[in-house]
Amino acid sequence: MSKPKVFVTRAIRDHGLDLVKEFCDAEIWPDELPPSCEVLLEKVRGMDGLLCMLTDRIDAELLDAAGPGLKVVSNHAVGFDNIVVPDATVRGIPVGNTPGILTDATADFAFALLMAAARRVTEAERYVRAGQWKTWDPSILLGSDFVGATLGLVGFGRIGRAVARRASGFEMRVIYFDPGASPELGLNAGPVDSLDELLRQSDFVSLHVPLTPETHHLVNADFLNKMKSNAVLVNTSRGSVVDQDALFAALKNKQIFAAALDVTDPEPLPLDSPLLRLENCIIAPHIASASEKTRNDMAVLAAKNLIAGLKGERLPHCVNPEVYGH
Ligand code: DGY
Repeated sequence: MSKPKVFVTRAIRDHGLDLVKEFCDAEIWPDELPPSCEVLLEKVRGMDGLLCMLTDRIDAELLDAAGPGLKVVSNHAVGFDNIVVPDATVRGIPVGNTPGILTDATADFAFALLMAAARRVTEAERYVRAGQWKTWDPSILLGSDFVGATLGLVGFGRIGRAVARRASGFEMRVIYFDPGASPELGLNAGPVDSLDELLRQSDFVSLHVPLTPETHHLVNADFLNKMKSNAVLVNTSRGSVVDQDALFAALKNKQIFAAALDVTDPEPLPLDSPLLRLENCIIAPHIASASEKTRNDMAVLAAKNLIAGLKGERLPHCVNPEVYGH
């Protein structure tokens, strides 16, 4: 019997790729850069399954280009704002994602960014390499303390909670704003009633919300105005949750102390972005989940979602379970 045909939009880690190849007749996009929209439209034609990245836009046009045989879309990410999910749902196509397994790696990196921004690690490293380190100095590169400081989490899902656990090891006070979240016993974190209240109290603000029309540019001039002048902003969610022009102004005018972004809009951030000229802004290339184990596990879960969809089984992690009708 012939194997189902799938297109994989980037070489994922072998742990997952081997599973895909065992079960499917797979075409794997070989380039470092993602396929363009035009190429993707071409490549999906006649496919039974698609394993895609957060860099691929999946919408009605693409699903129609694939044709009626497409049984599953498996996203190699927990976030799925690159997919117009209702377009898949109306066609009865389940969409898979990779929640849970990247929680710790992402929380670790959010905390690494928080510490690096507060203690000016990247700035200090540039200072040394530029030959500016003349002697021990009581007053250079002073940063912020963690013990007793308040960390405000915008969003209290899996990753927000994992960041809260790390913060308690640093004896920080943790508050969160997430109207939909249930409190978690054993976590030393308390809810606040409004975002304004969170911003008024927080020395560190870390974003853990999905990108939706409601969270697009959630961090705007008004949000930044309400932050404390010593505050550090960390974003490991999605770039367009932050209005980068407003952030640039707030950082340049020292309205807030620093920001650290793992995600930007667009990605990659153009080299002429003014944010790259600021000493108090750290930019990383969307690598919060980039630990060896996590990326292997993501590849395996994305492969399992794909294969389950091809077999007509329920996906281990499906973002649109309504396609199953129960
Ligand atoms: C995700 O999975 O959504 C991250 O942004 C990349 O790992």
